[in-house]
Amino acid sequence: MKALEGVKILDFTHVQSGPTCTQLLGFFGADVIKVERPGVGDATRKQLVDVEGADSLYFTMLNHNKRSLTLNTKTESGKQVLERLVKECDVMVENFAPGALDRMGFTWERIQELNPKMILASVKGFGPGPYEDCKVYENIAQCAGGSASTTGFRDGPPLVTGAQIGDSGTGLHLALGIVTALYHREKSGRGQKVLAPMQDGVLNLSRVKLRDQQRLQAGPLKEYSQYGEGIEFGEATPRAGNDSGGGQPGRILKCLGWENDPDSYTYFITQAAVWENICDVIGKPEWKEHEDFKTPAARLPRLNQVFSTIEEWTMTKTKYEVMDICNPLNIPVGPILSMKELAEEPSLRETGTIVEVDHPERGKYLTVGCPVKLSDSPVNVERSPLLGEHTDEVLSDVLGYSAAEVAAMREEGAV
Ligand code: COA
Repeated sequence: MKALEGVKILDFTHVQSGPTCTQLLGFFGADVIKVERPGVGDATRKQLVDVEGADSLYFTMLNHNKRSLTLNTKTESGKQVLERLVKECDVMVENFAPGALDRMGFTWERIQELNPKMILASVKGFGPGPYEDCKVYENIAQCAGGSASTTGFRDGPPLVTGAQIGDSGTGLHLALGIVTALYHREKSGRGQKVLAPMQDGVLNLSRVKLRDQQRLQAGPLKEYSQYGEGIEFGEATPRAGNDSGGGQPGRILKCLGWENDPDSYTYFITQAAVWENICDVIGKPEWKEHEDFKTPAARLPRLNQVFSTIEEWTMTKTKYEVMDICNPLNIPVGPILSMKELAEEPSLRETGTIVEVDHPERGKYLTVGCPVKLSDSPVNVERSPLLGEHTDEVLSDVLGYSAAEVAAMREEGAV
C-alpha cells in the first residue's frame, strides 16, 4: 500500500510548477487525473520537441504516474464532468493565470458547495498584493523572490540559477501544503484553500540572504570575499560569487584538466574543525600556528590567499582525487558534476533517483525519480500518459458514465 493510495487528485496543472507537485503526489501513490484541453493538452507536450511527433521530454519528465483525461471545460457537458470530478476527488490542484478558474465558473465558493471536503491547491506567481494578477514564469519568480539579485559575481549582472527553484521549488512547497491540509481534514472534516506563490517559495529558499540583509546593519559581512578585498558593502545583500552561504568559508576551485573540461572543479570548504588537516593536505603545515591563519577570524580577511593556495593543490588532482583524499580526513569537498556524469552514475540508478522509462512514442529516456524515499512506500515510476489516454477509463470507472454518454460527449467536442 502506497502512502497516498486512495487519494484522488484532480490535476488541473500545466507547464512546470503544478505538474511537479502532482507528480510527487503520484509517486507517493495518489491517483492523479490530469485534465487537459481536447486536441491541445498541456502546452509543454509540444515544446522543446526532440523527437518529431512525440511528447517532449519537458512534458514526459514532469508528468509521470498520472492519467490523462481530455475535457473542454468551456462546454456544458465539460462543465458537468468537471463538477462530478470535484465531487469525487479529494484535492484539486491548479496553476492557471489568476482568475482563470473563476472565469470557468469554479470559484472557491462553488467548489465548497459541490464538495466541502475538497482541498483547492494553487500556484500563483504572487500572493495578494500589487502583483497578484500577473502571469509568472520560472525566471520571473527567481528575480522577484530575491534569488537573482543575490546570485552571480559582485561585478556582474544578476543571474538566474539552473535549478528550477521558482517552478519545481514552488511545486514542492505546494505538495507540502496539500498533505498538511489532508492531515488537517482528518481532524476538521473540511477542505481548505492552499496557496503557494512562486515569489514566496523563492524567498523561502533565499532565506539566508534576508538574514545577511539584516546582518549588514551590524557591519560588513566578513565571510564574503569582498570583505577581504576591501570593497565596501552597499545597502543590500550583494552577490557573492561562489562564496559559501554559511559560517564555514568555501569556494569553487579548479582541478586537474580544468583547461579542457568545463566541469573540472571542486567545491572546497575550509571547515574550522579540520583546518589542521587542510594545512597538511595542501602542504602548508606552518599555517597551523601562524597568527594570520590559525583561527577562522584571522583567515577571514585573507580568504583569497587561503583559497588560491588551496587551489594550487587542487589543480594537481582530479575532482575525484580531491574527494578521495579529503573525505577520509573529514574535509568537506564536492565535485562539480555534469548532467552527463549524473546520468551515468550507477548509485543514482540503484536508488531510483535516475530512472530509465520506456515510452510508446519516443522509446527509452531518463528521468529523475522521486527525490524523497519513504521506507514503506516504494515508488514505481510510470511513463507519462498520452493526451487523453485515460479519458474513457476515468469517465466510466471514476464517474460512472456509459459508453454511449462518452461517445456523445466526444461528438460534441467536450472530451
Ligand atoms: N478546457 C477549456 N479551457 C481551458 C482548459 C480546459 N481543459 N484548461 C485551460 N483552459 C483555459 C483557461 O480557462 C484559460 O482561459 P481564459 O483565460 O479564457 O479564462 C486559458 O485556458 C489559459 O490559461 P492560462 O493559465 O492563462 O494559460 P497561459 O498559457 O496564458 O499562461 C502561465 C501560462 C503559466 C503564465 C499562467 O498559467 C500562470 O501565470 N500561472 C500561475 C503561475 C505559474 O504556475 N507559473 C509557472 C508555470 S511553470
